[in-house]
Amino acid sequence: MALVKNLSILGSTGSIGQSTLELVKRHPDRFKIVGLAAGRNIKLLMEQIEEFKPRVVSVLNEDDRRVLKREIPGDIECLHGVEGARNVAVIDEANIVVSAFVGAPGLTPTLSAIKAGKDVALANKEVLVMAGRIVMEEVKKNGVRILPVDSEHSAIFQSIEGHRREDIRKVILTASGGPFLYMPRDKVREVTPEEAMAHPNWKMGKKISIDSATLMNKGLEVIEARWLFDIQPYRIAVYIHPQSIVHSMVEYIDGSMMAQMGTADMKGPIAYALSYPERMDSGIIPLDLCGIGRLEFMEPDIDRFPCLRLAFDAIKEGGTMTTVMNAVDEVAVEAFLRREISLTDIPVVIDAVMQIHDIRKDSSLEDILDADRWARDTAFEMIKSRHRVL
Ligand SMILES: NC(=O)c1ccc[n+]([C@@H]2O[C@H](COP(=O)([O-])OP(=O)(O)OC[C@H]3O[C@@H](n4cnc5c(N)ncnc54)[C@H](OP(=O)(O)O)[C@@H]3O)[C@@H](O)[C@H]2O)c1
Repeated sequence: MALVKNLSILGSTGSIGQSTLELVKRHPDRFKIVGLAAGRNIKLLMEQIEEFKPRVVSVLNEDDRRVLKREIPGDIECLHGVEGARNVAVIDEANIVVSAFVGAPGLTPTLSAIKAGKDVALANKEVLVMAGRIVMEEVKKNGVRILPVDSEHSAIFQSIEGHRREDIRKVILTASGGPFLYMPRDKVREVTPEEAMAHPNWKMGKKISIDSATLMNKGLEVIEARWLFDIQPYRIAVYIHPQSIVHSMVEYIDGSMMAQMGTADMKGPIAYALSYPERMDSGIIPLDLCGIGRLEFMEPDIDRFPCLRLAFDAIKEGGTMTTVMNAVDEVAVEAFLRREISLTDIPVVIDAVMQIHDIRKDSSLEDILDADRWARDTAFEMIKSRHRVL
């Protein structure tokens, strides 16, 4: 019988957070929830508190904290804001912190978890996009593990187990291509947030769904893979694979290719991260390869998906450039969701801000947070003033 692992979840009310809790419910003998952090959805958080009885919880705002405090048992510590999330991430009893906030708010608590000696099951890829070098240095210094939750990185993780790193020739990330893979380009300019969020294969949060439609999600994942597996960007390739069955592949110097396949359900990679090095039942429907019949792979069209090129440019430039790219993407996606810009404006804004960014190399955490703020302000102003690039 495996030892019980204590989990803290950053982002328990999100898509990844809820899938993680479903797995915990399925395996009460393996996991105990000790901390939960959410944003604004206190209704769902309250239900989770009642069911999983954590010791510490946190929400984004002070007002929500007050409401929550009134409703939940008095022995549960109830916190808020960045400091609250940080506290959830460093609880003494936690063995694994599931990092599943969306975007930049995950960086500080995830770094705190690493510094407190916790293993991190990482879904929040933006943490590595913003500050990959610093995060991985802390991982090494503190002797902890990052267990990938992103399905592509979990696939790579599974495909390199038992192999020598120096024998890897290439890592290939697969991308479904999103809902507009075959739509004529002029039509993509007109798509609505609802259409962009309707991913053909995966059910996910809003931000990652829009990023999947622009292929920025794949760009973020290229940067995530660069840091997670310490692999140079020129060894990372992206293939469009519309069926989302092969989650990624590793090519070795003898020409062999290891691929990981599975049903498109995040409970698979989450289960592997939580039970590693064992495996456990995830409850997902096994693949019916004969029913699927055909697997297709093709090169991505970089002209059609400029976000992918921008991500490769950003990682090549290094320093604070990936932080800036990520921050502008977050601002631009929000603006698209508010219907202020079109989907095809997203890469235009990112490119324009990247062009005028003064990169800081060997950046400290302070430099990264500065660059993040600068990029957000600049992108926001550009969108507000209908900058001539749009
Ligand atoms: N969903 C997937 O299938 C998937 C797959 C691979 C990787 N990922 C990555 O996993 C991360 C989470 O994705 P998701 O799809 O689960 O997102 P999501 O459904 O939008 O959930 C995001 C979570 O973060 C919380 N949150 C948002 N802003 C916050 C803030 N400022 N402070 C504190 N909490 C905040 C939300 O709280 P409230 O809802 O309570 O406001 C929610 O719990 C992303 O980095 C994504 O790229 C997701």
